[in-house]
Amino acid sequence: MNTLLQFSDVHLQYQNGQNLTEVIRGINFSINQNERLAIVGKSGSGKTSLLMLMAGLEKPTLGSIKFQNQELTSYSEDQLTDFRKKNIGIVFQSFYLIPSYTALENVALSLEINFQKNALVQAEEILTDLGLKDRLYHFPSQLSGGEQQRVAIARAIINKPELILADEPTGNLDEDNSQVIADLLFNVSQKYQKSLCLVTHDLELANKCDRLMKIDNGTII
Ligand SMILES: Nc1ncnc2c1ncn2[C@@H]1O[C@H](COP(=O)(O)OP(=O)(O)OP(=O)(O)O)[C@@H](O)[C@H]1O
Ligand SMILES: [Mg+2]
Repeated sequence: MNTLLQFSDVHLQYQNGQNLTEVIRGINFSINQNERLAIVGKSGSGKTSLLMLMAGLEKPTLGSIKFQNQELTSYSEDQLTDFRKKNIGIVFQSFYLIPSYTALENVALSLEINFQKNALVQAEEILTDLGLKDRLYHFPSQLSGGEQQRVAIARAIINKPELILADEPTGNLDEDNSQVIADLLFNVSQKYQKSLCLVTHDLELANKCDRLMKIDNGTII
């Protein structure tokens, strides 16, 4: 099995005024290619912080993070931006869609800043795949929560990233919609053979993953 991502003795501290809080305390783990990993743990345990580190959106205070054997912590901001564009798709708990763009434009945006024809065609394909063929020209405010989350997923996966990060992607949805969104994420990850790292409070969902990692107070238990 090929290792995609490797954390070695990773620490993360936040400065709160005068105080330093260590939210990640020496974490070691890896994610393999085409592996689905669930992260569970109570509120404030450091789950979102871990995803931020995986995405290169936070720099560890100490330790090594390797992605495909490249040391992320040595990257410049520009290199990190490049790395994210190529390799990472993120689905947040709240959807962060751009309100003045249609569903189609929100998805095409991650492919092409200038909405080239090809980007729109690909965005339409993927939205159709996710059951939103009749919602392409709707703005986020005209979509239900589940539909918005599907647009967010389409946006995260359109570049076929090696690693899909999902932070409680079903947290805002009712049970039926949660099931649909969870299935979508799993199907996409399996279909494209991409890794998925899923933060969730839903144990049933977590148990569908290949592996489950429990975080407490910044360490793996
Ligand atoms: N930018 C920041 N500055 C200072 N402290 C922070 C910052 N971001 C997070 N924290 C603190 O780090 C700890 C871990 O936060 P994190 O968001 O990773 O938790 P979480 O496990 O995702 O929780 P939840 O389940 O509520 O989303 C918390 O105590 C939080 O208050
Ligand atoms: Mg969180």
